[in-house]
Amino acid sequence: MSSLLLLDIQAIDVAYGQLQVLFGVDLHVYRGEIVAIIGPNGAGKSTLIKSVVGLSPAQAGKIRFLNHDITQLAAHKVPALGIGYVPQGRIVFANMTVEDNLELGAFLIQNRAAKLASVARVFDQFPRLAERRQQLAGKLSGGEQQMLAIGRALMLDPQLLILDEPSLGLAPKYVDMIFDILLQLRQQGRALLMVEQNAARALTIADRGYVLELGHNRFHDTGAALLTNPQVRKMYLGG
Ligand SMILES: Nc1ncnc2c1ncn2[C@@H]1O[C@H](COP(=O)(O)OP(=O)(O)OP(=O)(O)O)[C@@H](O)[C@H]1O
Ligand SMILES: [Mg+2]
Repeated sequence: MSSLLLLDIQAIDVAYGQLQVLFGVDLHVYRGEIVAIIGPNGAGKSTLIKSVVGLSPAQAGKIRFLNHDITQLAAHKVPALGIGYVPQGRIVFANMTVEDNLELGAFLIQNRAAKLASVARVFDQFPRLAERRQQLAGKLSGGEQQMLAIGRALMLDPQLLILDEPSLGLAPKYVDMIFDILLQLRQQGRALLMVEQNAARALTIADRGYVLELGHNRFHDTGAALLTNPQVRKMYLGG
């Protein structure tokens, strides 16, 4: 694995109004690795990734992506830097076709041919979406909708893809499918930063993981080490 530091989160504080939810949190993502964030409900996992994509900006600390300081960057400027974001809840536009949903992910690409090339690249990766390109997104299964949400986030060919609970609420065969996709994305050299309810499974594929608790860094280590850490097992992996 390359040791190029892609994302560097240093000692960030985040609050919603008077309610502070992150306290001096650090996190790093290197090129091409999968990093998992785990921890109990309300620990601040979603807030941490939203701070990177400009949706819950940090009040203190620093966030760098490559050589850009993105601490205060507006959300609409993040995709152009090479950061894709798949929010929780497999959000797709139900009344639009699969193809049109994908094109929305390429809003920054003005050139029609370039946009279509991007659609073709995503269809190559997800033949299942290609077969359904004219279908309304609302008619897809939950797993296919999540695949579409991921495909849309890949339209601008991001170096870093950030995912919030990608497998939540999916039937087991679709959970398998999503985890296969995540491995496939790493294979392509992309870095992934993910929050996952299914902590054991996330740590199994993760190169490294972070445990957040009440808005603080609690543990960070390789995925394998966290999986066998007795405290982590007891508190977060059901013994
Ligand atoms: N938009 C918001 N406005 C006010 N408070 C918020 C907002 N979003 C989150 N919070 C609060 O911030 C804290 C952290 O929430 P966050 O969603 O980051 O946790 P989480 O670790 O992702 O939890 P979960 O596992 O339930 O998804 C919680 O107490 C939550 O109620
Ligand atoms: Mg969350």
